[in-house]
Parts: sequence; C-alpha cells; structure tokens
Amino acid sequence: MAQADSARHFYDRISGVYDALADASEHEARALGLRLLALSEDERVLEIGFGTGHCQVEIATLLAGDGRVFGIDVSPGMLRVAEKRVRTAGLGDRVELSLGDAKELPYQAGSFDAVFASFTLELFSEAEIPVVLNEISRVLRPGGRLGLVSMYDDGRKTRIVDLYRFLHRHFPHIVDCQPIDAPSWLARAGLAVLTRETVSIWGLPIIAVVARR
Ligand SMILES: C[S@@+](CC[C@H](N)C(=O)[O-])C[C@H]1O[C@@H](n2cnc3c(N)ncnc32)[C@H](O)[C@@H]1O
Repeated sequence: MAQADSARHFYDRISGVYDALADASEHEARALGLRLLALSEDERVLEIGFGTGHCQVEIATLLAGDGRVFGIDVSPGMLRVAEKRVRTAGLGDRVELSLGDAKELPYQAGSFDAVFASFTLELFSEAEIPVVLNEISRVLRPGGRLGLVSMYDDGRKTRIVDLYRFLHRHFPHIVDCQPIDAPSWLARAGLAVLTRETVSIWGLPIIAVVARR
C-alpha cells in the first residue's frame, strides 16, 4: 500500500486517542522546535502533518496582522480533531487546514516564510524523504526556514534506536516511523542547517533543527 494510503488508515483509526498516546511525551520537543523556528507575527507558515492540531493553535496564537498558518495532513480523522481544537481556541480566522499528501503539496512555489513538521518526516521511506524535502523547498520562499522535529539517528549504535529500526522493519503497521539523521537529509536537499538541539523521550534521541532554503 502507498505511504499516504496506509498513513490515512492508521491515523484515522487512532485520531481519537492520539493525544492520550503521544501528547504528554512529544509536547516538549514540539515546543522546542517552535521556539527555535522563532516565528514573527506576520509570517505565512505551513505545518505538514498537523495531527491533532496542537501546533496549529500554538502558531496561530503567535501570529497577528497578515500572519496566517496553513496545515496539511493526509488523515480526515486528524483533520476533524484539529479543526475542533482550532475552533475551540477561537483561532479559525488565522488557520487554514487541508487534506493532502506531503509528497505533492497543493501550494504555489515560494508561498511560505516558514514550514514546520514534527514527528512526520520519519514516517517516509528513504526514497520518499527527498521528495518531501524537495516539495518543502519548492513552497518556501528563498531564505525561508524549515523547522523540523524528529526522532534522531546520528549513526551511533544505541539499543533504543536499533530496537525502533527492528520494530519498524518487521511491524511497520504498528511502528510506522523510524529515527532518521535529519540534518544530513536537510543538507542533501540543499537546505542550510542554522540551529539544532537534541532532547530525549524515554531515552530515544529527538532532534529539533532549523534550516534555511
Ligand atoms: C506522528 S503524527 C504527528 C502529528 C503532529 N505533527 C504531532 O507532532 O503531534 C504524523 C502525522 O502526519 C500525517 N501524515 C502521514 N503521512 C502523511 C502524508 N503523506 N502527507 C501528509 N500528512 C501525513 C498523519 O496523518 C499524522 O497526523
């Protein structure tokens, strides 16, 4: 099954319980990623894989004036949860959420000052990651920034990274992601890494990185 189809099925099934499963552990790393991205209030921002919409609310709260945040996600279930969160926060006028595939972003070239993605790039295969990063580069204006938060494999052998890779290889329908060397992927895509910080979740390294187109 294509990545977008299997992700749609998977995240539609768990959209109602995703926050209970993941939010407590991932919240801090996402906040770090947004802090490093240092958005200004009038920027046009795109979030890829917005999930249950926590970062949409965080970003929209930072914006004012012409500032606007767009989001794209492949799962209608996640879209429903995120729309409700944005509506409840009273931020609907600054947020535009869409369904779509990160490998074919439905936006014109140079549309955004910044793109953000947390715990999403590592869902793609090694063949797909460059496709997603090329799409991100295309929709960023020259000089625009990408803020990325992902599980991190820096090439050192650790038990937890090996375990994740093993589970992803043998049970991809349950463990749909694996740690990646995000800074290397960004550099290969022609994006210049500006800032990076690592934290850990249950011993698993997580990297927050900002790169410039
Ligand atoms: C692990 S969740 C992370 C959600 C959110 N970014 C967070 O940090 O809580 C990954 C999200 O990416 C979305 N996704 C998966 N494949 C996608 C694709 N091809 N295009 C767009 N979104 C995708 C999923 O539906 C899901 O909402």
